[in-house]
Amino acid sequence: MKLTTTRAKQLKPKPDEKSLGFGTKFTDYMFNMDYSTGDGWHNPRIEPYAPVSLDPATMVLHYGQGVFEGLKAYRTAKGRIQLFRPQDNFRRMNRSNDILCIPRFDEAHALEALKELLILEQDWVPREPETSLYIRPTIYAADPFLGVRASHTYRFFIILCPVGAYYPEGFNPVKILVEKEHVRAVPGGTGEAKTLGNYAASLLAGQKAHDAGYTQVLWLDGVERKYIEEVGAMNIFFLIDGELVTPALQGSILHGITRDTVLQLGRQWGLRVTERRISIDEVLAAGNTGKLQEVFGSGTAAVISPVGQIKYGDHVINIGGGKVGPLAQRFYATITNIQYGREEDPKGWIVPVT
Ligand SMILES: Cc1ncc(COP(=O)(O)O)c(C=O)c1O
Repeated sequence: MKLTTTRAKQLKPKPDEKSLGFGTKFTDYMFNMDYSTGDGWHNPRIEPYAPVSLDPATMVLHYGQGVFEGLKAYRTAKGRIQLFRPQDNFRRMNRSNDILCIPRFDEAHALEALKELLILEQDWVPREPETSLYIRPTIYAADPFLGVRASHTYRFFIILCPVGAYYPEGFNPVKILVEKEHVRAVPGGTGEAKTLGNYAASLLAGQKAHDAGYTQVLWLDGVERKYIEEVGAMNIFFLIDGELVTPALQGSILHGITRDTVLQLGRQWGLRVTERRISIDEVLAAGNTGKLQEVFGSGTAAVISPVGQIKYGDHVINIGGGKVGPLAQRFYATITNIQYGREEDPKGWIVPVT
């Protein structure tokens, strides 16, 4: 498919790289592509970044038929721009599409389009340490129609957003609250898809946790409220008596790319790494017997997020004496070193852009 580019008449001033924050500033251009039943995915194009005008009946607004992704472009010390496992993001997006009845797109073509967009926008990839250009591919149901069915038309867009260091004040453990009432996802539902409704469903519990002084929610399974699933919008790892455990992917957990990266590196380092069910009772017991060595979340935004305290009803588990554990530190350093080109990429994860 031929990609066309429409140039902007005027470019925006670049923001101050020292105060970028997250998710507030957007670049000059975006990628757009449309789907209709007759034409399939068509008209891929790079255009000036602009608001999307929607008919009030547009299906995504009513029925939430939409998916998205999140990945980053990194600038290396030599000034080159590179991506980390972008093929996995587009593969997961198509998997989300399957779950949401959205037609699949060509993953290789999407990656080429993303690279073109990044080449055009390369000045927007910040240079300050640990900053990056966040990439948000999105697909939404575009039919102006009221009635529950899959849409016949869709829009695929990619927008870019320069983001600051996730840990401007340093890498510190956070407190998390185990959620006993609300659930994020259930087996047979949409938990494995990166889709709008999952995030809407997480808001109330997130708000309650924040009000109680906790940074994130620790989600339990939706059936027994017993087995650990995810933390906030991240996957979770426990180091218990030398075993690195993460919940197995059983239908309601997002297949995190950072999760897979941690698993692959951990195995390469010779750690005992297990994907299995892990109950909150097991974590409590490990905490009480001094066997709970480390807990951390994994995700694109934070990479690794160390957990220093877990609260479950009246129980409080403190982990690591307020300090970041050596394993969390090692994963964080290794993954970010690969992403920023400071360390060799052992697995072919890096895709160069410039
Ligand atoms: C619900 C949820 N779980 C886990 C993750 C971590 O996935 P990844 O490592 O691919 O960013 C994310 C972020 O994408 C998420 O939204």
